[in-house]
Amino acid sequence: LNPAGHAGQEGTLLMERTRARGASSGFKVAVLGAAGGIGQPLSLLLKTSPLVSTLHLFDVVNTPGVTADLSHINSSAVVRGFVGNDQLPAALDGVDLVVIPAGVPRKPGMTRDDLFNINAGIVQKLCEGIAKHCPRAVVNIISNPVNSTVPIAAEVFKRAGTWDPRKVLGVTALDVVRANTFVAEVIGVNPEIVDVPVVGGHAGVTILPLLSQVTPSFSFSKEETEKLTVRIQDAGTEVVQAKAGTGSATLSMAYAAAKFAEQCLRGLSGETGIVECAYVSSDVTELPFFATKVRLGRSGVEEIHPLGPLNEFERSALSKAIGELKGSIDKGLNFVRK
Ligand code: NAD
Ligand code: LMR
Repeated sequence: LNPAGHAGQEGTLLMERTRARGASSGFKVAVLGAAGGIGQPLSLLLKTSPLVSTLHLFDVVNTPGVTADLSHINSSAVVRGFVGNDQLPAALDGVDLVVIPAGVPRKPGMTRDDLFNINAGIVQKLCEGIAKHCPRAVVNIISNPVNSTVPIAAEVFKRAGTWDPRKVLGVTALDVVRANTFVAEVIGVNPEIVDVPVVGGHAGVTILPLLSQVTPSFSFSKEETEKLTVRIQDAGTEVVQAKAGTGSATLSMAYAAAKFAEQCLRGLSGETGIVECAYVSSDVTELPFFATKVRLGRSGVEEIHPLGPLNEFERSALSKAIGELKGSIDKGLNFVRK
């Protein structure tokens, strides 16, 4: 044998073994709604994540094609497709993290709450499946209206006896991504070094960027604060209008959701110091659910950060956010209790 050829074979074997080890050390993740506008690019990003060993793609349509397509990517995660409600149990079996972008998106002129009638039932059914088939999984909820779908999930899990407030997270990561981008434009720095805490919820005035706590620290004028706050609150609508009836944010959402899911997995793996904003069961305000920074760890949400010092503008915005959030939370809870 040519020594160089021999060394090559050994190298290949070593790579295969390393790849196999990598595959078995990652997490099993399911995407519910995987064939949709968010589901497809999100699944693509998760397929390439070294933290994912097995990726289950579930939808009521079209997962065979998406699965075949993604499975040809030479990253270590193994992709399996599941289509139709009969296959939901298998899709959820043994899963560590479930990400839910299932449901209809907005068209121009609609609020997120206008999606409630369709999406509430979808999230309820999927969470009933989670309670039965992977009750200990961490759940990331993207489906709108997030302000109500998270309370729906909590109520389903309470009824099933599987409720663990550390495991259910409404995904508000896109609000942070947007806030970081828009703030970076104003202060003239690379958006990757900006961190704006966004608290409250995920719709209109419930989205509350705490611009007084931005990193790197910056003192915005009253006019800048008002303009930036409104732009961040209306950013979803900006995309809905630009897409002119063909849907809402999908690519930026997939980016934000994949990063957020990876942070949850880093926490599950025991990595320390993982802090992200998320809409969770919380006692930071009088409401049962609220978005703030949270520390992620082996059991999911391990610590909820306080709001920190707010300026007068933020205190007044907070009381508006709480007023609207209360109605959305009650609507979600009552939907399951009815
Ligand atoms: P989409 O219509 O492109 O895709 C939704 C997918 O869900 C479809 O493939 C559909 O077949 C699937 N689906 C429907 N019922 C299902 C069920 N019972 N089980 C499994 N899958 C099911 O919509 P999209 O653009 O991907 O948006 C999805 C949801 O995400 C919407 O509710 C949207 O408002 C929301 N969203 C949230 C955020 C956020 O920041 N949290 C951002 C963007 C969009
Ligand atoms: C967003 O913020 O982009 C999503 O909530 C989708 C929407 O309807 O705006």
